[in-house]
Amino acid sequence: MSALAISVQGLTKRYGDKTVVDAVSMDVSEGEIMGFLGPNGSGKTTTIRLMCGLLEPDAGEGRVLGHDIRRDRGAIKRNVGYMTQRFSFYEDLTIAENLNFVAGVYGMEQPRQAVRDTLEDLGLISRKDQLAGSLSGGWKQRLALAACVMHRPKLLILDEPTAGVDPKARRDFWDEIHRLAVDGLTVLVSTHYMDEAERCHRISYISYGRLVAQGTTEQVVRDAGLTTLVLSGEHINDAAEALRDAPGVEQIAPFGASLHVVGRHKQTLMTSVNRVAQSTGVTVTPTETSLEDVFIQLMGQSKDNML
Ligand SMILES: Nc1ncnc2c1ncn2[C@@H]1O[C@H](COP(=O)(O)OP(=O)(O)O)[C@@H](O)[C@H]1O
Ligand SMILES: [Mg+2]
Repeated sequence: MSALAISVQGLTKRYGDKTVVDAVSMDVSEGEIMGFLGPNGSGKTTTIRLMCGLLEPDAGEGRVLGHDIRRDRGAIKRNVGYMTQRFSFYEDLTIAENLNFVAGVYGMEQPRQAVRDTLEDLGLISRKDQLAGSLSGGWKQRLALAACVMHRPKLLILDEPTAGVDPKARRDFWDEIHRLAVDGLTVLVSTHYMDEAERCHRISYISYGRLVAQGTTEQVVRDAGLTTLVLSGEHINDAAEALRDAPGVEQIAPFGASLHVVGRHKQTLMTSVNRVAQSTGVTVTPTETSLEDVFIQLMGQSKDNML
């Protein structure tokens, strides 16, 4: 069994009478890329800040890079690379100047060498004299990544690093993340994007502060135990209408010119769908449940738990 870069149990954080992180446990092995998913406001950033030593939990315990998350918060802060949701740097400084500044903040022993190595590692040499403010979204993000790996952390925690970045830059960014992980870096990365979830070794899905699914994407899909049927044909709108409150139907979502109908109880779902198919003339085809189907389901279920 490999060593754990993150091992936390029962992490809980309350603001007033609202529990925004509710007994979250997570183990992340060294060299693993763990995706952290969940809707807006579900507690991802707060959990991340508990793990980075920036916030103290109301309950729970654990270790990050071997340091106790309550007692050794300083050591965690120094040893983790943390890219915040809205990273920033000095727009009127060049890439190299920004990195020099960061090297100073970390009190690095050989700042010039560290800056040079980082520029080289992340392919920033040719742009080192360009003003940060003039960079495209993708290059800004690369600079932000450079700034948080310069002190050679063993654990990188990225909070929605690709929000608002174009698809090509997102792909390059993920190639970079995988390259870093091959070199032994552990990565915890929060994201909204389904395709990014699929590039993680494992994912954790959080909803209303609670971890509701964890595993490889295949495991998460399997554990959800859903049946997904695709409806197509001229009258899918009528079919959708007829299925709205039908037994066994838990989700109805348009996908292009077809309709995905999802439920946990296969027989009940099939009975409802077949009945509506007969009356509307739509065609029914079973399909594999997608990660997106599962996330929509998880979101709906945990909302019910809150009521
Ligand atoms: N400092 C704070 N004081 C009060 N409520 C907060 C604070 N920080 C976050 N929250 C609330 O906690 C919930 C989770 O927020 P957050 O962790 O930022 O979620 P996410 O990153 O998944 O969008 C939200 O409802 C948010 O409004
Ligand atoms: Mg957030």
